[in-house]
Amino acid sequence: MSVSDEFDDWAARGKDRGMEDRHWHTAKHVLARMPVEAGDTVLDLGSGSGYAGRALKETADAGRAYGIDASPAMAENARSYTDDGDVGFLV
Ligand SMILES: C[S@@+](CC[C@H](N)C(=O)[O-])C[C@H]1O[C@@H](n2cnc3c(N)ncnc32)[C@H](O)[C@@H]1O
Repeated sequence: MSVSDEFDDWAARGKDRGMEDRHWHTAKHVLARMPVEAGDTVLDLGSGSGYAGRALKETADAGRAYGIDASPAMAENARSYTDDGDVGFLV
């Protein structure tokens, strides 16, 4: 099974949100140390559920946040978790 097929399966079973929940307690400290300034554009590679971009947009006042993921289902789920037009997810 390819990586994208594997993560498509994860996304279909809602495991993207589980990953977000499990990673958040450490990821929030990493994100808080990133030198993101107001208005910056952020690119997240392997974005999964997209929480990193959403968080940097909200907490660091990033201007735009984009995620790229090999899994179409992950990118589709990530899109569904925000209605912010300055946050986008691509395959
Ligand atoms: C373990 S998850 C981590 C997701 C998120 N960054 C996090 O911290 O929770 C890895 C993600 O990277 C994606 N991925 C793995 N290899 C990739 C590649 N070569 N190019 C793009 N995305 C990739 C997977 O589809 C998956 O959504």
